[in-house]
Amino acid sequence: MAQLWGGRFTKETDQLVYNFNASISFDKKLYAHDIEGSIAHVMMLARQGVLSDAEKEDIIAGLQGIRSDVEKGKLEITDEYEDIHSFVEAELTRRIGEAGKKLHTGRSRNDQVAVDMKLYTRDEVRQMNSLIKEMLHTLLSIMEENTETFMPGFTHLQKAQPITLAHHMGAYFEMFKRDHERMVDICRRMDTCPLGSGALAGTTYPLDREYTARLLGFSGPTLNSMDGVSDRDYLIEFLSALSMVMMHLSRFSEEVIIWNTNEYQFVEIDDAYSTGSSIMPQKKNPDIAELVRGKTGRVYGALMSLLTTMKGIPLAYNKDMQEDKELVFDAIDTAKGCLSLFTGMLRTMKFNRKKMAESARHGFTNATDAADYLVGKGVPFRDAHGIVGQLVLYCIDKGIALDDMSLEEYRQISPVFEEDIYDAISMETCVNKRVTIGAPGKAAMQDVIGKYKKYLEGY
Ligand code: ARG
Repeated sequence: MAQLWGGRFTKETDQLVYNFNASISFDKKLYAHDIEGSIAHVMMLARQGVLSDAEKEDIIAGLQGIRSDVEKGKLEITDEYEDIHSFVEAELTRRIGEAGKKLHTGRSRNDQVAVDMKLYTRDEVRQMNSLIKEMLHTLLSIMEENTETFMPGFTHLQKAQPITLAHHMGAYFEMFKRDHERMVDICRRMDTCPLGSGALAGTTYPLDREYTARLLGFSGPTLNSMDGVSDRDYLIEFLSALSMVMMHLSRFSEEVIIWNTNEYQFVEIDDAYSTGSSIMPQKKNPDIAELVRGKTGRVYGALMSLLTTMKGIPLAYNKDMQEDKELVFDAIDTAKGCLSLFTGMLRTMKFNRKKMAESARHGFTNATDAADYLVGKGVPFRDAHGIVGQLVLYCIDKGIALDDMSLEEYRQISPVFEEDIYDAISMETCVNKRVTIGAPGKAAMQDVIGKYKKYLEGY
């Protein structure tokens, strides 16, 4: 056991208590951010005359040495320290002697961990953002190639009206675009630096908090030291945004799983992204999509856990807050892994255009257009709806599509039908007549694709 606070104790901590309290097994992940925060703190202390320039140089060189040794695998962060903060300080003192003991002047582990966690999260939000960007690029390129790939659009998982693959992918583009905007928003709101908040009430040293905030890339310091050490809102916002990303991925996964079934055969997942069965030789399973769908629960769980942990915590810092780490780390790693794997799977997935178009043709997805055709010939919509209902019943009985009926058959049900019905209900017409903005018609889609390209240029 190695700890920073033995002075006022007369007995050793019980080993089980020590283990229960310690966080090094997981907060070692913060080593680089901890060192980054310490370097800024020390630069500021020297600038304010609290440390000498020589002490500053020694401490910074020591901290940089620790960071590079950990990175190179030359220095192992062991469990013999309580947390990453204790480890770095003890290692620094071991390396540079007395000056190392001055590192913690005018600082508490409460503001230290608050700044470490914010620095770490800020990096992760940015990484998440670049993964979202890759997803958006992938979606856009599928869209560009598929403005004429007809497929059924569904409601209630029943074939509804024809759309295109570009239109379907565009719906996901919108979802991930909102996810990107949420990340940008989180970065903006978490842009204040808690370092210098001390344990809860600031410190008596002449700290320049504006300076450390600037050194660490924040727009300024937090304005209340009690909130500075105990704010975890940004983590909850991030978990919420990650949950939303996972919800989108999970819906997408569900569709890929359905599209990949023998019954649909809309897509073929690349061998590199599928798995086989140990017993059934014919199987090629969509495990990646299923796992992404499954892992969504894990990320939601982290959000619920942290909300629950925070709800009963009085001001300011309480040890409960240490519980923010494992679940946030896990949720972030899970969401990043899922997003990059899913994007890879999507990029390599083959779309079976023929099957999609056939499915649209055989699901009466053009029934609304047949009714609209009759309306165009002066039949009131409600009557037209009834007539097309009869056509559908007739086709179901004969096992054919609306387009397969002869004109005589049409006219037996309503004499209003003429030769132009075939053109009116072709997939091309059904889709390409829908050109209001946001609709699947090619002209409307191309307009939107242009907007998305511009959006990605400014990302
Ligand atoms: N391991 C602690 C955490 O993650 C660091 C802060 C500890 N502060 C304290 N006064 N015990 O929250």
